Amino acid sequence: MSDIPAQRYTWLKEQISLHDRHYYLQDEPTITDAQYDDLYRELISIEKEHPDWITSDSPSQKVSGYANQVFSPVEHGSPMLSLNNALSESELVSFDRRCRDGLGKDQIEYACELKFDGLAISLLYEKGILVRAATRGDGSVGENVTDNIRTISQIPQRLHGTNIPERIEIRGEVFMSHLDFRLLNEQQRALGLKEFANPRNAAAGSLRQLDANITAQRALSFYTYGIGELVPTEWLPTAHSELLDRYVKMGLPVCQDRALVHGLNELMMFFQSIKDRRDSLSFDIDGVVYKVNAYSLQNQLGYVSRAPRFAIAHKFPPQEAMTKVLAIEVQVGRTGAITPVARLEPVFVGGVTLTNATLHNEDEINRKDVRVGDMVIVRRAGDVIPEVVRVVIDHRKQHSEVFNMPTHCPICHSQIERAMGETIARCSGGLFCPAQKMQAITHFAHRRAMSIDGLGEKLVAQLIEVNLIHHPADLYRLGLNALVTLDRMDSKDKKLASNLLQAIETSKKTTLARLIFALGIRHVGETTAKDLAKYFGSIRAFMQAHEEDLLRVNDVGPVVAKSIQNFLAQAHNVEVIEQLIACGIDPQEQASSELMIAELVNKTFVLTGTLPTLSRDNAKALLEGAGAKVVGSVSKKTDFLLAGGDSGSKLEKAQELGIPVMTEQELLSILQKSSIS
Ligand code: IVH
Repeated sequence: MSDIPAQRYTWLKEQISLHDRHYYLQDEPTITDAQYDDLYRELISIEKEHPDWITSDSPSQKVSGYANQVFSPVEHGSPMLSLNNALSESELVSFDRRCRDGLGKDQIEYACELKFDGLAISLLYEKGILVRAATRGDGSVGENVTDNIRTISQIPQRLHGTNIPERIEIRGEVFMSHLDFRLLNEQQRALGLKEFANPRNAAAGSLRQLDANITAQRALSFYTYGIGELVPTEWLPTAHSELLDRYVKMGLPVCQDRALVHGLNELMMFFQSIKDRRDSLSFDIDGVVYKVNAYSLQNQLGYVSRAPRFAIAHKFPPQEAMTKVLAIEVQVGRTGAITPVARLEPVFVGGVTLTNATLHNEDEINRKDVRVGDMVIVRRAGDVIPEVVRVVIDHRKQHSEVFNMPTHCPICHSQIERAMGETIARCSGGLFCPAQKMQAITHFAHRRAMSIDGLGEKLVAQLIEVNLIHHPADLYRLGLNALVTLDRMDSKDKKLASNLLQAIETSKKTTLARLIFALGIRHVGETTAKDLAKYFGSIRAFMQAHEEDLLRVNDVGPVVAKSIQNFLAQAHNVEVIEQLIACGIDPQEQASSELMIAELVNKTFVLTGTLPTLSRDNAKALLEGAGAKVVGSVSKKTDFLLAGGDSGSKLEKAQELGIPVMTEQELLSILQKSSIS
């Protein structure tokens, strides 16, 4: 690398050509798209300053892309061009201004589309029949991939309708959906084959299979967005949006996420609306594309070297970046879960600077074979936790060492255990482990749990460090004098400390659901805590829960029940709850378990026929309120059939299976009897 412009220019040309080969021929890029764009932009800016340096082998003088030797070459009827990019709002503003100035108009109508992240394909239809399909190649000559393209079921072999031109090149993008990409990689893994880095490479690799039978097994998708050669030219409608409407009628797949907008503001609104939905799309896009809609205006604006002036790709900020793994450490979660985390050389991606990325678990780290010192691609998409996607093997240093999960917790040195069939390894230290202790207490204080304002992770860590607290009940014994000595508190101004004490005091008035959730029992989230609170009514009743009680609670299955029992079987957990009660935390709720009726609890009912007085819904509500379950069809597991008049096949089946039949009258008398007792 050199800073002298001429040398830098040569270096850039070489680098871009090298990366073009990696990307187009090997389907295995060694840099991210954003890094490629940066190199390209730098090249263009040098060429603007020194036009006399430009040589014909400059990547700016040809459309990127390579025709592979193996597939036979195909000359496109009209060149397949690429798009210029706008990476910022100001670049978009300039695009709109250039268009308006070029056309002498105040406002322009644009057709907006998604920018699919796959590979460009040109489909040649003659008299409505698909006769040839080709990749972009170098823009003029592509690869003949007709046999492979024919395996994509979305692409019609024959165009629909009667308004079909003699000869038409239909342009679009072949890509792979997220789901199909995941399934393909799972399959590759199972077969011990190399996994694909991303859906784009998977699509490219699948399309370039020499054996079309293999392509047929890969689920590829296609959307069309443009046109090449056309005979007769008069067939062309007057605007791009009309072309796409016509394509729909011809049976071609056109993405529905498209819009016609007017002027810059509406372009920005389209961009924002797609950006907001990007993570919920089932396939990758790397931006949106705007095209001046009217063909007459497109022609007026024309082209610059390899791209049209009338269209632009408005790219999203990159979600992936390359950086170095400085270290691999493991983190201990609230329930002891051990998560390996890569410490990274800081890198800006998805709008923030990342210094850590998750490696998920032991299996993932082994699968990706991430090692300290490796260059890796990290990804930060939407709200998803930033993760290490893959290693760029080309950059691996010799003598790098395979990462082994530690056998002992880095915080408390207890053994790390991984149960059979589980992916997650756990520290066996429980609340003895300061890391688990800190997170357990932070969870207890959480806004959605006991809601102790101002008690965050850092303060909890300090309170533990100076031995002021060991478990949640200790919080209620904290005093002002002890608190003001902490680094995080101000010893002169006691306000912070007294506010915290006030918040702790206030938290005592809580609901049973919050208290149960605050205990941090594995598998007991907010909703389950609410159901448990409703069923048991008090913390004491909850502490005495038996398995069969727990299983009666809405949505509590054997795994959750076991987890609650394990929690309550630990003496120290019971002790903490006792201390909380002693501090005055004892919220009560009307327990639905008290409404349970022994004869009906856990019994499975099927309803059939017309009941004399109760509606179906009322009968169901009464039964469920008394602890019974109501299901739709009769089986061996059914305990009772509640039958009314005109009972049909269900009654017959129940009689066949010897299932007792109950009448409405009988049900009501059971309910009445128990309400008197
Ligand atoms: S129009 C003359 N529309 O982006 C311009 N391209 O860099 C022809 N792409 O090679 C392209 N979605 O592979 C167009 N809605 C869209 C697109 C799209 C993805 C790809 C295409 C093209 C590249 C341009």
